[in-house]
Amino acid sequence: MPAIAIEPDIYWVGVNDHITDLFEGLWPITREGVSYNSYLINADKKAVVDLAKSNKVDEFFDRISEITEISGLDYIILNHMEPDHTGVLKLLRELAPKAEILCSVKAVPMVKNFFKISDNVRVVTDGEELDLGGKKLKFYMTPFIHWPETMMTYETGSQILFSCDGFGGFGSLQGDIFDGDYTDFEFYEKEALRYYANIVASFSSQVLKAINRLSEIPVSIIAPSHGLVWRNNPGRIIELYKKWAEYASSHGEPAVTVIYGSMYGNTLAMMDSVAQGLSSTGISVEMFDVARTHGSYILPSIWSKQGVVLGAPTYEARLFPPAAHFLDLAERKRMGHKKFAYFGSYGWSGGARRELDQRIESLKWEMVDAFDFAGGSTLDDFRKGELLGKKFGELILSGGN
Ligand code: FEO
Repeated sequence: MPAIAIEPDIYWVGVNDHITDLFEGLWPITREGVSYNSYLINADKKAVVDLAKSNKVDEFFDRISEITEISGLDYIILNHMEPDHTGVLKLLRELAPKAEILCSVKAVPMVKNFFKISDNVRVVTDGEELDLGGKKLKFYMTPFIHWPETMMTYETGSQILFSCDGFGGFGSLQGDIFDGDYTDFEFYEKEALRYYANIVASFSSQVLKAINRLSEIPVSIIAPSHGLVWRNNPGRIIELYKKWAEYASSHGEPAVTVIYGSMYGNTLAMMDSVAQGLSSTGISVEMFDVARTHGSYILPSIWSKQGVVLGAPTYEARLFPPAAHFLDLAERKRMGHKKFAYFGSYGWSGGARRELDQRIESLKWEMVDAFDFAGGSTLDDFRKGELLGKKFGELILSGGN
């Protein structure tokens, strides 16, 4: 895509990344892709706001060159130092040596550590303004969205908020950068929630603080550095982020995520009975095979739902490893305070439940119900599983008491 005008003299100069398989080397985006949105303000003074990952260097510089000479840039504004937005910085500094780097105080050592740059770097502070001659910018410190040095940049005339990771999502841009009539919102909202759960959820209290702070200013366009530019309805992505951030205290919707894994089908057969019990209550259920689904896709479900049911066998006297790996990821992502139930098969001595007791304590989840069974299930076992599902569904629907 060529550079795209958002407002007069304000351009999207970002890039789509369809090549990277794992965002942060961890989260799958092979099918979905991601965009690194960068913005050029072509006023009397010229500023670029956030950059791109190093694998897109040629494309990124070509895009800026469509609008202005790179060597003539006056400012490089770094809202956030993670290298998906700064990977091209070292080369940009060589191509635009007079451009001053503007960033928060906590970004300064990061600029030095990541890129060995310390000259012509200036700290901007909360509320500080920058007059570009025809366009005026204002900086807002928004720490931990997503790293401690993060800030956002606001263009006062068009009321555009360049929010970097905030209000962003996975999913490359599909021919149009704006939210609009033909936008596949289901795709972008799903990928924004996955991005939120994978990248931002740990910092939800900071997200709410930032949303509260930014409510003081009129925002006509949300221009994040991943995903859609929200020009038609910026309130939509703000409301979604607010709702997702509030899950940190509400612990999600009254719904249940079922995670299952099975070695020879015995735990899987029980899962059907548990699901039958859950469904009989009318509760919303989302199910994942934990051995065949990357945790990136399960985390959004866990984050947005109050209940978790895990079906997994004992494996060598411990919990089935794919289930253990996922719970470890959920703990690292601070997905705490869920109601939890467990079932699973064992071959000789059991052991999954022992390990689960420890993991659940670390996760700060509440074990509501659990049972395990030797080998295959009897009819009584299946009835027990169905009852577990029914009681668990009723508990979540009743508000957890
Ligand atoms: Fe998109 Fe935290 O970087």
